Amino acid sequence: MTERRDIPFARPWITDEDRAAVARVLGGHILTHGPEGKAFEDEFARSLGPGAHCVSVSSCMAALHLASLAFGLGPGDEVILPAMTHVAAAHAVEWVGATPVFVDCDLRTGNVTAGALEGAITPRTKALSLVHYAGIPCDMHPIVALAERHGLRVIEDAAIALGARIDGTHVGLIGDIGCFSFYPVKHITTGEGGMVASRHPEIAERIGRIRAFGVDRTHAERSTPGLYDVPVLGLNYRMSEMQAALGRSQLTRLDRILTVRANNFARLAGHLSRVRGVRVVDTDAPTRSNSHYVLTVVVEDAGIERNELIRKLNADGVGTSIYYPQPVPRMAFYREKYGYDGARFPNAAFISDRSIALPIGPHIGRDELDYVAERFERAVAA
Ligand SMILES: Cc1ncc(COP(=O)(O)O)c(C=O)c1O
Repeated sequence: MTERRDIPFARPWITDEDRAAVARVLGGHILTHGPEGKAFEDEFARSLGPGAHCVSVSSCMAALHLASLAFGLGPGDEVILPAMTHVAAAHAVEWVGATPVFVDCDLRTGNVTAGALEGAITPRTKALSLVHYAGIPCDMHPIVALAERHGLRVIEDAAIALGARIDGTHVGLIGDIGCFSFYPVKHITTGEGGMVASRHPEIAERIGRIRAFGVDRTHAERSTPGLYDVPVLGLNYRMSEMQAALGRSQLTRLDRILTVRANNFARLAGHLSRVRGVRVVDTDAPTRSNSHYVLTVVVEDAGIERNELIRKLNADGVGTSIYYPQPVPRMAFYREKYGYDGARFPNAAFISDRSIALPIGPHIGRDELDYVAERFERAVAA
């Protein structure tokens, strides 16, 4: 057996080039809504693919909130969303006074299906807000077809799905709005930060205005400095120039980051396939590519309880997490507001209660992956 190691679950990857990019901004005079932000939006759009229009924002939560605002969602409207997602997606619905309607996920992928969504549609439904669970794309084509049949908006939460594509099209560009996160341990980081992407220029334009107080023209568009009008209600959800510079620098490494993550996932999944009673959550179609944010392993029938396995892994220096710790409707705020019927979300509850997210980020190499697998096998066998 190898010596004990210390392997964090995740760690931001910051290089000297990243630091220099931020320092260059600090050496100048423009710290917000300047050229870095615009360049980051353009470069991010290019990396997603043709037809993408992007708006940088202060977080993915902000992006999701802006999506609700841009679509005019409000009291009396229902938004269908997965029980198995980050709470930000539900909060974005709550903050505009609309009602979240949760549906269960598929056990193999952690994602919602068109069939499950269809069963929850009522005359009040206005939008579908989906997550690409752990970076695994939802089966979007039937979902978009369903939305079109019912006249619904589609929001894609791609916070952890940067690099995931369906038949070559990047997720976030298949529905009406895609929301990305640049939180420190995401594929790329800006500290805090996010991006709204849309294939509809008018939606991106509207989001861009609401993000910046609802003003009608940017600094560059003002013929008289300081003079503008405010046609819509807005917020300040802007990204700073320091963040945008960091994001641009990080973006240059995205291909490398995705390759390392894919290789790490394949190696660890290969090891874990030898362990009886556990299952790795992954895409179920080669046309829908996983962005390999984490490796979620479900402890189905391995003779050890999930929390005990986590305790052993952590004691052996293997960092872990859980995606997501509870189905959102079971979290206290939603449980108390709407009541929780566990029978309605058995798959989400199964994944929440039985899964462990293992590290596959670029901070770990082959030896560490082999170590994680060795300690995992040992803990299960004990
Ligand atoms: C699916 C999903 N959506 C939204 C968020 C929130 O992102 P942010 O921290 O950028 O607001 C997260 C955070 O992990 C997430 O996993």
